[in-house]
Amino acid sequence: MKILVTGGAGFIGSNFIRQVLARGRGYSVVNYDKLTYAGNLANLESIGKNPNYQFVRGDICDTSAVEAAMRGCEAVVHFAAESHVDRSIYEPAPVIETNVTGTFILLQVFRKLNLQRFVHISTDEVYGDLLPGTSADESSQLQPSSPYSASKAASDLLVRSYVRTFDFPGLITRSSNNYGPYQFPEKFLPLLITNALDDKPLPIYGDGKQQRDWLHVDDNCRGILAVLERGRIGEVYNIGGLDVEENLSIARRLLRLVGKPETLLSYVKDRPGHDRRYALKCDKMERELGWTPSISLDDGLQQTIDWYKMNVDWMDGIRGGEYRSYYEKYYENRDSSLHAITPSGAKSSRKF
Ligand code: NAD
Ligand code: DAU
Repeated sequence: MKILVTGGAGFIGSNFIRQVLARGRGYSVVNYDKLTYAGNLANLESIGKNPNYQFVRGDICDTSAVEAAMRGCEAVVHFAAESHVDRSIYEPAPVIETNVTGTFILLQVFRKLNLQRFVHISTDEVYGDLLPGTSADESSQLQPSSPYSASKAASDLLVRSYVRTFDFPGLITRSSNNYGPYQFPEKFLPLLITNALDDKPLPIYGDGKQQRDWLHVDDNCRGILAVLERGRIGEVYNIGGLDVEENLSIARRLLRLVGKPETLLSYVKDRPGHDRRYALKCDKMERELGWTPSISLDDGLQQTIDWYKMNVDWMDGIRGGEYRSYYEKYYENRDSSLHAITPSGAKSSRKF
């Protein structure tokens, strides 16, 4: 099967491509990616000159370029997105353009070319902020809180509408927070790991008691592949790690694993509209596709820390790019400009 993978130079997309090509099974992959700040061809260096892999640089909002790349493929796995919640708050326009308009263009071209399967990569954030102790299943209401999650809910619903209206062969995955190798360090865990390794403060938004369900990227990719191969058309599949943890407790665990002191924890002003809890019920993946997560948070965290330790060149490449100015703008002045308050009420005054 020839698959068009959008956003394959990003974190999950590159892990997915490596997993698919390593499995064999007659897959070939066209990676269609705009190479935004988050796209990095170094993520795919290990694939080298694999004859079953081709890279095409392009924007999912460019209809004719999408058509040229999609022609001859049988399936699409759609990862491409502006994926960071904080950036969607600072600058929503590219998020709406890529996540909503870009998805719409892919759906239109897919219909025109009459391909076989379209797997849309959505997120658990579409369910919004959950009540303490509750988890979302696939029929839970969509109540997105940020421009990012609203754009993902919009694209998720567009796919659903195409299934219903046009008999479109679409499937949707909604996964929880991924972590693992090659994750861009704007996200919580890689930011904490790389800062801890450099003895820099670990920024904790608000009181740090927000809960996330952590999923190793290899488990997610295995789930996405199962949905691509065996999922039922028109269905939504939750993919979670079933490991719900408070940010602060995961930060403490990480410091222990890295061997650094808790004095590195630094409370900063909260994210506006910050969701307190995400958690998923994933019985459907187990019942229908025999999938369950296999990597525990302890093993996965240790493996991820080791990866960042071993891949200093990869991280240096990121620091040499846009990440430096992003970090300076949103973190280095954060203590003074955003008046962070610690849970004990004391003012935080840390230099990032
Ligand atoms: P990422 O930011 O690491 O990668 C996104 C990729 O998309 C990059 O390679 C980027 O260059 C590309 N891209 C962005 N705009 C594009 C455009 N207009 N045209 C073509 N390519 C474009 O993201 P990620 O963390 O790998 O997430 C991948 C997908 O999974 C996203 O759809 C995201 O919403 C979803 N998701 C992510 C998580 C997570 O924890 N990271 C969890 C659930 C769902
Ligand atoms: O839940 C799935 C979603 O997970 C994906 O759809 C998104 O693409 C992905 O970015 C992620 O969104 P989150 O907002 O949950 O992830 P983030 O890594 O930005 O933050 C995780 C938690 O950590 C969240 O409660 C905010 C907090 N945080 C984050 C950063 C970057 C901090 O306390 N400090 C930080 O510096």
